[in-house]
Order: sequence, then C-alpha cells, then structure tokens
Amino acid sequence: MGMADPWWQNSVVYQIWPRSFKDSDGDGIGDLRGVNEKLDYLKDLDVDVVWLSPVYTSPNDDMGYDISDYRGIMDDFGTLADWDELVAGLHRRGIRLIMDLVVNHTSDEHAWFVESRRSRDDPHRDYYIWRPGHDGHEPNNWASAFGGSAWAYDEPTGEYYLHLFSPKQPDLNWDNPAVRREIYAMMRWWLDRGVDGFRMDVITAISKAPGLPDAHTASPGRYQFPGEHVLHGPRLMEFLREMRREALSPYDTLTVGEAFAVTVEQAIELTNPRDGPLDMLFHFEHMMLDSDPLGPLTFAGRRWELGELKRVMTRWQRELDGWNSQYLSNHDQPRQVSRFGDGGRYRVESAKMLGTFLHLLQGTPFIYQGEELGMTNVSFPSIEDYRDIATRNQYRELVEERGMDQAEVMKLIHRKSRDNARTPMQWDDSENAGFTTGRPWIGVNPNYTEINAAAALADPDSVLHYYRRLIGLRKANRVVVEGAYELILDDDPAIYAFTRGDGEDRLLVILNFTGGTPDFVLPGHLPPTGASLLIANYPADDAEIARLTLRPYEARVYRLAPPEPTIRR
Ligand code: NOJ
Repeated sequence: MGMADPWWQNSVVYQIWPRSFKDSDGDGIGDLRGVNEKLDYLKDLDVDVVWLSPVYTSPNDDMGYDISDYRGIMDDFGTLADWDELVAGLHRRGIRLIMDLVVNHTSDEHAWFVESRRSRDDPHRDYYIWRPGHDGHEPNNWASAFGGSAWAYDEPTGEYYLHLFSPKQPDLNWDNPAVRREIYAMMRWWLDRGVDGFRMDVITAISKAPGLPDAHTASPGRYQFPGEHVLHGPRLMEFLREMRREALSPYDTLTVGEAFAVTVEQAIELTNPRDGPLDMLFHFEHMMLDSDPLGPLTFAGRRWELGELKRVMTRWQRELDGWNSQYLSNHDQPRQVSRFGDGGRYRVESAKMLGTFLHLLQGTPFIYQGEELGMTNVSFPSIEDYRDIATRNQYRELVEERGMDQAEVMKLIHRKSRDNARTPMQWDDSENAGFTTGRPWIGVNPNYTEINAAAALADPDSVLHYYRRLIGLRKANRVVVEGAYELILDDDPAIYAFTRGDGEDRLLVILNFTGGTPDFVLPGHLPPTGASLLIANYPADDAEIARLTLRPYEARVYRLAPPEPTIRR
C-alpha cells in the first residue's frame, strides 16, 4: 500500500477465541473448521491479521492456556490438517495469522512435567521450578494470579513446584538453556508451517528474581502476587533478544507481548525500533482504571474516570518510543460497550464511539470477536453457569473464605468476569445464535435475538458496517497510521478530543463519553471553518465546528482545513 513499513503498523488485528467462535460439528464447542467457515466474514470486515487464542493440545484447566503438546491441536478443535487448511484459507484472502505463544508455563500433563515430577534427578527436573518446603510450609509467600499459594506440594519427590497461575500450569524454568532451545525450535516449527507471528502470553514473567524472595505485602500471613520479583525480571531482555535471534529473525513476523503492569520506560526497552526485541505490547493501565491493583484478575473495583483514561492513553501516545497496540477488549476482559459505554439504551451509539476511539488512536487496533457487533456482558444467575477458573476461584475465595454476600459477589462477576467475553459469538437469531446445533459449552447471551451478525449485515447503520468504515479510513488515510497525537480540552469531564497530524494533514476526533449532551468548544489554535467530516455515528454535516452540542455518545472525525499560508505575495 506504500504506507508505513512494517506491515503490522498498517494492520488491523481480529482476535478469535476459538472455543466460542463457531462450532462446525455440533459438539457445542467452537473449532478450526468453524473458523474456516467464517473467513469471508473476516475478509468483508477487511481485517489484515487474525490472532488465534490457543488451539494446542490441552486438558483445558485454563481454556487452552495450559498446553500439554505444543505441536498438537486440541481434540475439541480438530486436527493439524484443519489448521493447515485454515492458514491456507486466510493467506488466500491476504489475511495473516498470529498464534498465542504460551511459554511461561505448560500444562502439568505436558510430557516434560510428567517426567520432571518423577524424581529429583530426572533429566527434565530442571525444566520447572522446584524448591523444598520451608518448615513444613511453601518455599515463599507468593500468590498465584488465580488465588491461593503459587506453590503446589508434590508427593512423589516431597518438593513444591511454582505455578503463577493454576496448579495445572507449572512455570517453566527459563534459566535452563535446554528449555529455551526447545521453545525456539517449537516456534520455528510453527513459523515453517506458515504462522506469521505470535501473541506472547505473560511473556514479561519468564525471568524470576534469583533466590525467589518473599513478595512485599501489607498483610503478613497472606499470599501475595510477586509482581516485583517476576515481572520484567533480570534476564528478560536477554531471553527475548535470544528468542529474536534464534527463532524469529529469519521470518517476517508480528510479535505482541502481553505485559501486565509494564511501565512506559520498560515498554520502550522492549519495543523501541532500534533494538527492542518485540514489535508491540499490550499494557494494562487502562484496564486497571476500574480494578483493584492488588490482583490482575480480581473483581473488586471502582468506577473508571474519563480524566484518568485520558491521562493514561495520552502518556502512552506521547512517550512510547516504539509502536502502540490498541485494545479495549479481549478474552480476559469484560465487554467494552458494557464497561466503557452503555450496554443498554445507547448500545449502538456507544459501541461506535468506542470503535472510533480504538481506530483513531496511534497504534495497531485489536478487535475482539463480537466487539464489531456491539456484544455486551452477560448476567448468568448462578456461579454454576460460569466456566472460567479465575471466576470460580474468586467466587469461592470471596464467599467461602472472606464471607462476602453471594448476591454481591454475583454482581461483581456480572461486571468483571472473563466469561463476559467468552459467551458464544452471535451469528444469527436461530437457536443458540447460530453458533452450534448442539448444546453450547457455556450459555449464549439471551440478547442474541437482537444482537447478531446477520442482523448487523442487513442494517447499514449497524456497528459492524461502522467498523468496516473505520478500517477503511485507516487504509485510505496515512495520517490515521502515522499522525502524531495531541490531546485537546484536557480537563473536559465528558468529552475526549484529540488531533492526529503529520504536517500535511490533520484530523480532529471528538468523542462524547457520556449519555448527556455536552458542548464542544473548539480551541482557538484550530481552524473553525473548512473542516470536512470523515465519519460520525449520528447524521452530521460538514460545517462550522467552532461550537457543537454533542448527542449521547456522539463521535465525529473531521479533516481540518489546511493552515492558511502565512506568507503571501
Ligand atoms: C493471560 C491469558 O490471556 C489468560 O487467559 C491466561 O489465563 C493467563 N495468561 C495464563 O496463561
């Protein structure tokens, strides 16, 4: 396209969480052939890259993020031949494929771990992190991100192994060069097979602090997630540079690292264009604005505030010497329209407004399946309706251990559970939303009769068609990819507005983040006349933009008039 280089800067990525995308064989579970049936849907949306969440062999303790064979496909999802067909179908349509790379941990059913736990001198012992107990207790006070201790006692050898997630997800020992060699070989195997890159799961946690010291805690006696000892650890940069050299460098890939609690300074180290080993990162700062900072997946929370959202996003836009990724949703987060917009009365308007935000910021946008339909959170009545291990553990911890009221905990779950994002994709208004002819593995959101892809395709004003236009805008206007971001109206409590400019061209983005009707007043340094409207979520005109009364969740993008030449003859 002659636009920015490398290709992933121009790209829009679409995330598929395969268990809930499309079931082809009626067993109630989405699968690879199901994805294959929907490639034209993705092509019509005009996305450039698909990120496929894990499809590897797994006992599914954490829905595929617990891998027992890195070179196999989970039975529920199909076969390697189905995967080959999928990648060929994507490539035929000019869509690239990136896969999840989950190498901070394996499943406890991975052959390496099965051997590792057999005896203290097994050749695979050192593939994992084993420690003796400490006066009959765990080796330290580390908590797992899913609750409880991060250590599991293992009978056969009388030692503990480390698991930052579930006990069925033992952490790999990256200090062991044999582990690293195996992983790089596995990555090359997939790259040779046709994958175009990786989304790297909890990648900044692979280097643990030597000696595994206790985590700082305000409540001694309780387990504490050891962020300061496992995130961005002492050998992280070395490992990632080695990975780039040994696995990635011969291929033209996109790499995006999941980087919980990363700072802008660390992100620059990781992604700067000179020697950053990764192309981009997912930071979590905007996801933390309504969360309790003490635990990554914790439900307890507060209301997010527009002022904080502006501060966080603006800092990343201004300071990251590297490339941003943009996301408001994924398989670990609630639905964005319910969280940052209005999942009820202004669902369509606010879904489009948030889409405008995502696509007009500087960086590569990531769309999560169903976001383009404005899919919402779900409120299942009972904890039994939930499948996610983090949700179920937290329910147990809050209700059984801390004695919180069940109904209160269910409210938190309705607001924050990962299963909000994991209900089946809503294809049409037939039974089970057209996702499966069988019994779905998790309930379908009952609003599928109204919110579904078939209805969206038939309605020219749908969120889906609006997303297509947003993607088109990026492809037709270099400034959307490359323009510098500048925040305006910094302190406005309702409106988030900014410009994107590259010297020749300048866009103005106006977003009303509320259900009210605030007035927008153009700052004096921007030209009030001669603007032309590029996209909006309500009928609007090219007009005078000095003063506008915005409608609920209104979004408008203008191209501003070029500045008057200052020297005339
Ligand atoms: C982050 C993944 O996105 C999440 O789904 C998973 O539970 C953890 N990493 C552990 O792999």
